[in-house]
Amino acid sequence: MAIEKPSGKKLIKSSLSKEEMSKAFGFALSQPDLITTEDTAVIFYDLDFLDDRIEKLKSLFPETTLHALAVKANPLTKILAHIIQLGVGLEVASLPELYLAEKAGFTADNIVFDSPAKTHDELEYAIKAGIHINADSFDELERIAEILENHESKSKIGLRINPQVGTGSIKSTSVAGVISKFGVPLNDNTDRIIACYVKYNWLRSIHVHIGSQGCPVPLIIDGIRKVLNLANEINSCLKQHSATQLIDTFDIGGGLPVSYYPDTEPVSMMQYHSMLQENCNELFDGRYKLITEFGRYIYANTGWVASRVEYVKREKNYNIVMSHIGADLLLRKCYHPDDWHHQITVVDSRGNLKTGTDKNKYIIAGPLCFAGDVIAKDLDLPVVNEGDYLLIHDVGAYTLSMWSRYNSRQMPKVISYRNTNTFEIIKQRETKEKLFDFWS
Ligand SMILES: Cc1ncc(COP(=O)(O)O)c(C=O)c1O
Repeated sequence: MAIEKPSGKKLIKSSLSKEEMSKAFGFALSQPDLITTEDTAVIFYDLDFLDDRIEKLKSLFPETTLHALAVKANPLTKILAHIIQLGVGLEVASLPELYLAEKAGFTADNIVFDSPAKTHDELEYAIKAGIHINADSFDELERIAEILENHESKSKIGLRINPQVGTGSIKSTSVAGVISKFGVPLNDNTDRIIACYVKYNWLRSIHVHIGSQGCPVPLIIDGIRKVLNLANEINSCLKQHSATQLIDTFDIGGGLPVSYYPDTEPVSMMQYHSMLQENCNELFDGRYKLITEFGRYIYANTGWVASRVEYVKREKNYNIVMSHIGADLLLRKCYHPDDWHHQITVVDSRGNLKTGTDKNKYIIAGPLCFAGDVIAKDLDLPVVNEGDYLLIHDVGAYTLSMWSRYNSRQMPKVISYRNTNTFEIIKQRETKEKLFDFWS
């Protein structure tokens, strides 16, 4: 199989520009009572950009595809309530995520339940509700079999396969290495996997997830191709056994890397789709209903955070900015600084872009009480002053959902907007009372 490298042509806007962010922030600051002095940091979501991502995705795949967007990437309930109107579903990885999905109005046929640690009770709940479940192991399949003996169910059941195609450049987001905590490793288990599909006539879906940021798209395609070969082989075998039903659903777990650098050209969804068509054409000829589970692609570039500069420590050869976002929101960046990047733009207290370059480089530190709470080093920036704001780009996915409670800092307010000038608070800044409840 020849996997073509993408051409790199820019087909879809890959991220929001600093000009767009500073314009929206300036407008937001000028609204009465939208941002108050206690809002040391505010997270923003551009709904136009979000809608565009979802519409592009929907326009490329067959109409029957269920796009189950990953709740783990962004569980904000107002966002879930928004995207349901765009005709997508949700991928959930815990019972509480399932609860969020149900509360937002998603019905069983639009929810996919993944997790490597589903309890018996969780499985029973999902089976009774008729939710699509991807089993992560042979043992989980047995649990499901036991539950199905006692319950009628509309659930579609799949098995998650680890195609063992290798890891990308970020180990913590790569799940298709030879050893992975997720799924059933393919290489040593092919016969056993096929035997399960022959044995269980309710096992008629198959799931594969290769990884997320840092995984080259050809690696992702390679993994999908391997599991597609397996699905085709299982179906031939089922035909030989005169099975009444074949595998009819193919679930491509998420994982399209996105751009975290303003001037880079990531593989666009359109390019990814073309690569899939070229290398995995059976996914588009109607024999399988498709499920996708994108998270990062949908949300990462949609959100940004404005973090107020509290102090600037000016030293002979460097400056340190003390600001209000650190490892609480950007956990991955602080713990694995070499794997992650967030572009930082400096604006003044009214949201105007600052220009020029200070003679000293900057270290950008967060507010938490540990030395690793640093989100950037060696940065060339305009002169930064107390009261300015740092606009930290591309924080829409795997940020609030990974919020750290260290130092009991309050979760920031979240504001969505359209046209850079129409705003809605979609989550209030956490109150001290709610924080107390959390620890009580
Ligand atoms: C099973 C599953 N589906 C979907 C996703 C979403 O992946 P991404 O955000 O990279 O699209 C993940 C992420 O870890 C996952 O584990």
